[in-house]
Amino acid sequence: MGDTARICVDGKTFELPIVEGTEGERAIDIRKLRSETGLITLDSGYANTGSCRSAIPFIDGDQGILRYRGIPIEELAEKSNFLEVAYLLLSGHQPNREQFDYFLKSITHHTMIHEDFKRFFGALPKDAHPMAACSAAIGALSTFYPDSLDPRDERHIEISVHRLIAKTTTIAAYAYKHSVGQPFMYPRNDLSYVGNLLYMMFGNPCESYEVDPVIEKAIDLLLILHADHEQNCSASTVRLVGSSRVNLFAAISAGINALWGPSHGGANQEVIHMLQAIADQGMTGREFVERAKRGDPGARLMGFGHRVYKNFDPRSKIIKKACFDVLEKLGVHSRLLEIAVELEEIALKDDYFVERRLYPNVDFYSGVIYSAIGTPPTMFTALFAIGRLPGWIAQWLEMHQDPDFKIGRPRQIYTGPPITSYVPLEDR
Ligand code: ACO
Repeated sequence: MGDTARICVDGKTFELPIVEGTEGERAIDIRKLRSETGLITLDSGYANTGSCRSAIPFIDGDQGILRYRGIPIEELAEKSNFLEVAYLLLSGHQPNREQFDYFLKSITHHTMIHEDFKRFFGALPKDAHPMAACSAAIGALSTFYPDSLDPRDERHIEISVHRLIAKTTTIAAYAYKHSVGQPFMYPRNDLSYVGNLLYMMFGNPCESYEVDPVIEKAIDLLLILHADHEQNCSASTVRLVGSSRVNLFAAISAGINALWGPSHGGANQEVIHMLQAIADQGMTGREFVERAKRGDPGARLMGFGHRVYKNFDPRSKIIKKACFDVLEKLGVHSRLLEIAVELEEIALKDDYFVERRLYPNVDFYSGVIYSAIGTPPTMFTALFAIGRLPGWIAQWLEMHQDPDFKIGRPRQIYTGPPITSYVPLEDR
């Protein structure tokens, strides 16, 4: 049968509907499985589990396709800008001039953070990781805006969304300034979204700061490429946390923490550490790849492999090209880029990586660009978070509008001891 799957349990057959997405991908709808058969499914890492229907990004991991709201990532990377992409993800359509101007104006005018908020950073140690500072600060926004926390109120949602997209740049820049002991720079409304971020990070009150258009364009591109990636670890975290109907700031704060891990967005920082270690130890690319294949501690080939992409990651192709362009325009020679290219060439021909279908992912080359413009590795994942923000928010909004919306609550197979009696302390 074309549109049902059959499952046979204890000699009885059950039929389960098959649902199909607009690009032909199919899923067995198991929502009645437990009530009809008494069974649940077990799927560690959710590798075979669709947690929702979504109309935001489309990924075909075998063909290396990524589209936001139907538009290929290559086109957006070439023709769009980050705030326009943010609007597209959030609203489902490309903004006309009037809609975009309203959005841009609102984001631009919400970048300042409350003066008292500066003390928040003062409470953190100087070496606080920016991701810890950002997740805590984003969560703390809910204490400053108790008037707009209702996830069912349209006006509350709009203002929270605009505040988040605007203030996350300021918060990330303040986290960086705090770590280097420099004064916080107030946002400048005459600059672009990315220009302002660069100014707040790299400007200082003693000198004028000119935004370099090459750097501005490169960061804007990276933000576009990071803007959404369907049900990954951090987006699923935002959905799961948000499914309790907690406010948006709290859900996004949780997403930032999920992104921080080295298996996810934190890989961009790890890639640079790996390249630097190879350079410092005078190791050849082949030597490192052999260590990675043996699974030596600390020798995973970071920035390689992806749960969904099994052919190539289209973002990585765009970033690699941008990396060469930017470094050439800036006149930067990077030993780290040479090592990255060598590692990629070796790994792509090596049976271990070929058999496991491991390719460079979005994090493999992005850190080389961030480094070339003077960003410390600890800030890489915070920049990723700024990019991913519209995607997280779009996922959160879509979940709240979904007629099938339910609190997220997976089940388990219990493997502990059978019923056991309590033993009083003195008898143990
Ligand atoms: N280096 C060496 N071996 C690897 C790598 C790697 N980077 N990635 C996967 N493998 C191996 C695994 O050891 C495993 O081998 P085995 O079958 O012999 O046990 C096999 O390839 C399959 O890998 P899994 O870890 O099972 O794949 P999974 O889909 O669970 O994990 C992940 C994907 C986490 C991205 C993994 O490839 C990885 O750790 N990569 C390095 C970290 C990284 O770059 N993360 C960023 C991902 S993109 C993002 O989140 C923004």
